[in-house]
Amino acid sequence: MIFDTHTHYDDEVFDDDREKILGSLKENQIERIVNVGADIASSKMTIALTEEYSFLYGAVGVHPSETKELTDQDMNWIRESSKLPKIVAIGEIGLDYYWGEPEKEIQKKWFREQLKIAREESLPIIIHSREAAQDTLEIMKQEHAEEMGGVIHCFSYSIEMAREYIQMGFYIGIGGVVTFKNAKKLKEVVKQIPLERIVLETDCPYLAPEGRRGERNCSLYLPRVVQEIANLKQIEENMVREQTYQNALHLYRMDC
Ligand code: NI
Repeated sequence: MIFDTHTHYDDEVFDDDREKILGSLKENQIERIVNVGADIASSKMTIALTEEYSFLYGAVGVHPSETKELTDQDMNWIRESSKLPKIVAIGEIGLDYYWGEPEKEIQKKWFREQLKIAREESLPIIIHSREAAQDTLEIMKQEHAEEMGGVIHCFSYSIEMAREYIQMGFYIGIGGVVTFKNAKKLKEVVKQIPLERIVLETDCPYLAPEGRRGERNCSLYLPRVVQEIANLKQIEENMVREQTYQNALHLYRMDC
């Protein structure tokens, strides 16, 4: 059993065969997935997908790179949508300084606003943080993110930073990047952190694993990531599947 904790099946690159792929997941042991919003439009599509597929759950939220035009009304919409029964998290939210825009202050403002919603609605958070390690951690501490818990998606920082997040009760999201030959730092992080704090994710359509690198990613490629984690930690693949599945249930507070 595999739980893909981070997908973007609303993306238009799936328009031609979305139904076929989603329909084939169960027979390939992909039991549950969480589709993650990146702006208001994709959060709306996420809600529609949760209504269509029993095994698909959703997160609503706005990615830092999409925060420029946000309004208070958008925040109200996120707050109301987060109350839906199949919405299990606020995300993806955070800070991304890689592209140099929107301005840091704009990103920070909407990150805080969405953290407040998660706190008030008692939902876990899905964090996107790129080249913004210190600011992300500082804001999370100020907003008491340890009370919400959640996942650091597509983790790309140091082992020290991983330990900080784990201490705050967060999970570390591991996907296709760990299979890349040049991902030395991430491989080391996976070796050192406990399996009990790792969840599997694709971030599809992005970040397909080695062997499919550059192609459109999907949950069916997660066994390659399982294999890599098992190799790095010198344990059975089944153990990786089972433990990360339990971790994901716990992360999104699904009891069964
Ligand atoms: Ni994503």
